[in-house]
Amino acid sequence: MSPPSDRSGLTRRDALVLGAVALPVLQLGCAGTPAEEDFDVDAIPESRTIFPRTVLAGDMQTDRVVLTMFFADGRPKTLRVWAEDAPELLVVDREVTPDAEGFVKERVTGLQPDTVYAYAWLAGTAPDFSARSLVGRVRTLPAPGSAVPVTVVFGACVGQGTIVPDFVDPGQTEPFTWALYDAAAALDWDVFVHLGDQGYFDRIWHDGGAYEAYLEAWGAYHGGSYRSVFPKAGLLATWDDHEVTDNSAVDPWTTEPSELERMANGKRAWFTVVPIDADDPTSAVWRSFRWGDTVELVLLDCRYEKTEGEPPHLVSEAQLAWLLERLTTSPCRFVCVCSPKPFATVMLQDGRYPGEKERWSGNPADRDRVVQAIDDGQLDHVLWVTGDIHMTYLGRLEETGDRVSDRMWEVCTTSGNVSPFADDLSTTQFAFGAAAPMLPRITFDAQAGTATVRFHDATGAVAHEQVIPLGA
Ligand SMILES: [Fe+2]
Repeated sequence: MSPPSDRSGLTRRDALVLGAVALPVLQLGCAGTPAEEDFDVDAIPESRTIFPRTVLAGDMQTDRVVLTMFFADGRPKTLRVWAEDAPELLVVDREVTPDAEGFVKERVTGLQPDTVYAYAWLAGTAPDFSARSLVGRVRTLPAPGSAVPVTVVFGACVGQGTIVPDFVDPGQTEPFTWALYDAAAALDWDVFVHLGDQGYFDRIWHDGGAYEAYLEAWGAYHGGSYRSVFPKAGLLATWDDHEVTDNSAVDPWTTEPSELERMANGKRAWFTVVPIDADDPTSAVWRSFRWGDTVELVLLDCRYEKTEGEPPHLVSEAQLAWLLERLTTSPCRFVCVCSPKPFATVMLQDGRYPGEKERWSGNPADRDRVVQAIDDGQLDHVLWVTGDIHMTYLGRLEETGDRVSDRMWEVCTTSGNVSPFADDLSTTQFAFGAAAPMLPRITFDAQAGTATVRFHDATGAVAHEQVIPLGA
């Protein structure tokens, strides 16, 4: 939670006024910098030596955000946050001390809804800071009752546009770059949703899977082209298998002590580096965020609540019951289910896409209940977005049929790795499909009743655009 030095909501002008009349109180309650200086973040040089990784903000609420960061020198830094349209007024000015590995996770509270904040981590001492991180920006959630449009981009499975992913090696110092994300830096959006495989840690797993090794390995990803996209807006992230290792290497229900330890280490590292509003790595990763009354973004965990047996389950009963509740009771105009595994029954031109046990269609005991709820409630305001199978598509949940659940749309994304199966997608089921990695950029417009889906390719150009009417 926020430390006592937090003076969120207190502007620099407030501090000046207070300083004149109540200095002793201010000094007791605030460890922030003096207000007299002129703060110009652009005048401070960026240091990639001290701050090699991207800034990260996430799990936005109407009044708070979570920030995570890595300081390579392991020394305390100053965090400053200001509203983007009022850079002269600081809302946070706080010294932050990293943990033993150099990482911080900070909650910033007392913010205003639907407001874009900028933030930076600063080395040295005010007013003459010696170095800064990248400057990040994050928009808080609009309050209930607001129906402003929102533009969301989605990522999954980073890589080079090849079948083989970018596996990070133990001790690797060279960060990965990706053309898709470097081109995306020219675009804008309100929130980035990551659907999992934010990195490929298989070789860390097979090298012993120490917590410190996972943390170090994250630098190859967050020190690379994520620096082009994550500073632009807040991140809502879930995970898939490769944040720990490939799902063929270990089952989530393993009881083998070494596997349990490595899995715990990988998950703990994810909770350290990702700005999820939780510290305990056994916390539920499934959670949702309401962008005013426009859209509820529902993030699922399709990896660590999976169970074998007859029938197998992709998610826990608790997560499934919660998903059904979100679908049927959301106050928002749209519900966007961000599922790390496809919900569609993916059809190729000559039959079903293989490997269904890893997807909803191979776990009918769970999937059928969602389908039933959709059709019983005629829930035609729902859009699915997924990743995992290394292709780009926009299509129906089923190749044939006229139920709401048959006709419902799903977007699939890959941010790098590609599957040759993409070229064989059913042309009946899919309006658009490609093996190439793309950035889906979806604008939810409650007034128009539409979701406009744009797929940006690795040059930033729009490869496909489609306006989808959602609900009545
Ligand atoms: Fe992947």
